[in-house]
Amino acid sequence: MLMTYLTFPEHFVWGTATSAYQIEGAWNIDGRGESIWDRFAHTPGLIQDASSGDIACDHYQRWREDLALMKQIGVQAYRFSIAWPRILPQGHGQVNQAGIDFYSRLVDALLEHDILPFATLYHWDLPQALQDAGGWPNRATVSAFVAYADVISRALGDRIKHWITHNEPWCASMLGHQMGVHAPGIQDWRQALASSHHLLLSHGLAVPVLRQNSPGAEVGITLNFEPAIPASPSAADADAARHHDGYLHRWFLDPLYGRHYPADMLADYRAAGYLPADELPFVQPGDLQAIAVQTDFLGVNYYRRVVVRSTSVSEQENLAPTVYVAPASEWTDMGWEVAPASLYDVLCRVSFEYRPRKVYITENGASYGDGPQEDGQIHDQRRQRYLRDHLMSAFRAVQAGVPLAGYFVWSFLDNFEWDRGYTQRFGITWVDYATMQRTLKDSARWYQQVIGDNGLAIEG
Ligand code: FCB
Repeated sequence: MLMTYLTFPEHFVWGTATSAYQIEGAWNIDGRGESIWDRFAHTPGLIQDASSGDIACDHYQRWREDLALMKQIGVQAYRFSIAWPRILPQGHGQVNQAGIDFYSRLVDALLEHDILPFATLYHWDLPQALQDAGGWPNRATVSAFVAYADVISRALGDRIKHWITHNEPWCASMLGHQMGVHAPGIQDWRQALASSHHLLLSHGLAVPVLRQNSPGAEVGITLNFEPAIPASPSAADADAARHHDGYLHRWFLDPLYGRHYPADMLADYRAAGYLPADELPFVQPGDLQAIAVQTDFLGVNYYRRVVVRSTSVSEQENLAPTVYVAPASEWTDMGWEVAPASLYDVLCRVSFEYRPRKVYITENGASYGDGPQEDGQIHDQRRQRYLRDHLMSAFRAVQAGVPLAGYFVWSFLDNFEWDRGYTQRFGITWVDYATMQRTLKDSARWYQQVIGDNGLAIEG
């Protein structure tokens, strides 16, 4: 049989990813403070299956076993997030040493196993005490985040050499404060836009602190990408795609790469009454310079593309003036389109338009519910195909000159998928939530092979 080998660059990093609230559980153990996700999930009616991350995958207790599984798969890097309320239960002030110790042990064990720790500081679990003081719409949260970054990087900066300040600030600001489907469940455009600015500013101010406390470290931020394809050739649909791109991508990329907020989006938000006509109330002198701090890499999270059609704002109260349409295609259990070719477009676009020094795909993966068969194994062919096709796209991007340095599968484990609860399984490892037993899925074994080969062997 004819085989084609797609070999990734030398030193390419193969990893897997999780986040604290989605896997740790132990929500009120060892001095951990309450987070906005605890409060949100404990509020009836907000999570699809009425679940929460109280126990999740019980990773807080079972992390050694999880690490052994990672070792078995052969991953070279592990992207996890640090729970701010474990470190500073009130968001600032009193440090909880037990929280620091947990991550310190985890990091030591990762290094012993030759697995590089990639730590995300904020994967959406704001301490509830800071929310009570106004949360991300309140500028004071910026300095609280920078102080948290200082505490944790003083403690772990000698050993963690890859830091991601924020995961998907679009989700934290817009899903959390505009649509209200994520914690803290607010629906207010003005607060959402203020949040986005404060998230970006806190990134900008934390970067030099991380560099200082963690000499030689790579520091970056992770954004989510969902390229928008117009549903028709009409000018209105083209404009919907432009707006969607501005809302999701350029609103974050442009200030991060020194271009200020995009003029077309300022105009759109002003026209909609979300911003006053002649000022940006939340921007202070020096903010945009701080946000545009040089970073070492851009993290790209990619799952799907969207096809958009124009609509009027009034049709969809409090939503952006676009709607998604569903072309005939393949869909994951999330209802997300499988669109591997668009990953290539995203990687080329961010690399050639914004020139990050390096790019890591910090998340990519698929939700499919396939469970154990009679043989006890999980034959998740669709996930395997999804990952393979996305890696082929990533490989093409490398060939086109994208400085892609690594790839992280989302996720190492099935876990708590935010407002969707446990209804969605993204893991390459199956979790039986009744027994907490873990089983590697076929995709994990396939990934093991990919890592071993530093690439793909494709038939034909
Ligand atoms: C991303 C999140 C991650 C996970 C995946 C499916 O937006 O960063 O936590 O929920 O989606």
